[in-house]
Amino acid sequence: MRVLVLGAGGQLGALIAGAAREAGDEVVAYTRAEADLAVDDVFDTICDARADVIYNAAAFTDVDRAEADPAGAFAVNDLGVRRVARAARASDARLVTFSTDYVFDGRAGRPYDEGDLAIPMQAYGRSKRAGEIAALEEHPEATWVVRTCWVFSAGGRTFLPSILRLARERDELSVVADQVGSPTYAPDLALAALSVTAAAPGVVHLVSAGPPTSRLELAREAITAAGLAVTLHPTTAAAFAAAAPRPANSSLTSRVSSVPVLPDWRDGVARMLSQQVPCPRG
Ligand SMILES: NC(=O)c1ccc[n+]([C@@H]2O[C@H](COP(=O)([O-])OP(=O)(O)OC[C@H]3O[C@@H](n4cnc5c(N)ncnc54)[C@H](OP(=O)(O)O)[C@@H]3O)[C@@H](O)[C@H]2O)c1
Repeated sequence: MRVLVLGAGGQLGALIAGAAREAGDEVVAYTRAEADLAVDDVFDTICDARADVIYNAAAFTDVDRAEADPAGAFAVNDLGVRRVARAARASDARLVTFSTDYVFDGRAGRPYDEGDLAIPMQAYGRSKRAGEIAALEEHPEATWVVRTCWVFSAGGRTFLPSILRLARERDELSVVADQVGSPTYAPDLALAALSVTAAAPGVVHLVSAGPPTSRLELAREAITAAGLAVTLHPTTAAAFAAAAPRPANSSLTSRVSSVPVLPDWRDGVARMLSQQVPCPRG
C-alpha cells in the first residue's frame, strides 16, 4: 500500500511514517517544507503522491500562539485540512486526519465520546473543529477524524519531556492539578492509527488506555518511574496565566466498538523512559 504522511517533521507524523514503513508500506513522508497546508499548491503535491491512504499529522499546534494569530491557525487547521481532504477525494485516497480534545470545553466532568457536542473554548480548538467539519464535508465517504489527547513521547516538544528536564534541574516543581486529560503515548497512537480505517468513517477517539489523570499525577508517575527526587507542589491553571484557556477535563473515551485499543499510558511512560538517555543532575 502507498501511504502519504503530512506533517512528517512533527512528533506524531514522524512516528506514523516509521510505523507504516515497518508495516511494509511504501511511504512518502512530507514535512512542512515539502507540503505546506497553508498554500494552494499542496493540492497538486498531494494528488501527485498517488497515495492509497493519507495521514495528516500537520497542524498549527501552538495553543497560546493561536490566540494571538487565529488567522494563522485557521489557515492550516481549517483551510489547510480542507485542501488535504479535497486532494484525498480527487485521488480516491482514504484520509486519516488528527484532531484534539480541545474541541471540548471540559465542563462535562467526565470523558467525552464521539457523540458529545464539541464546544471549543480557544482559537486553537475552534480552528481544529473547523478542520474536522471541512474534512468530513469534502470527503465524507473516506475520512477518519482521529481525536486524541495529551500526546507524549521521548522526542516531542510536549509536557512530559519538559517536566522531566525540569525535575533533573530543580528540587521543587509546581504542576497544574486542575486540568485532567487522557495521556496518550505517541508510538502507540501511531501504530493504532494505521488500523483505524477498519472502523466506519467519521470521528473516532483514540487515546491510551488507563484512567484520566491530572497534569500533576502524570508528572508524578513519570518522575517516580524515572527515580528522580523532586518535591511536587499542586498549582492551578489560573496561576500560569496562559494566553489560551484550557479545558478542565478533556479526557476522551470511545463509543466506537471497532477502534483499536491502545496500551495503558502508564506503560507508555515506562517505555518512554527506557528510551531516554539518562541525564545526571547537577
Ligand atoms: N501533541 C498533543 O498533545 C496533541 C493533543 C491532541 C491532538 N493533537 C493533534 O495531533 C496532531 C499531531 O500533533 P503533534 O503532537 O505531532 O504536533 P507537532 O509535533 O507540533 O507537529 C505538527 C507538525 O505540523 C507542521 N506544520 C505546521 N504548520 C504546517 C503547515 N502550514 N503545513 C504543513 N505542516 C505544518 C509542523 O511543522 P513546524 O515544526 O515547521 O511548525 C510540525 O512538524 C495534530 O493534529 C494535533 O492537533 C496533538
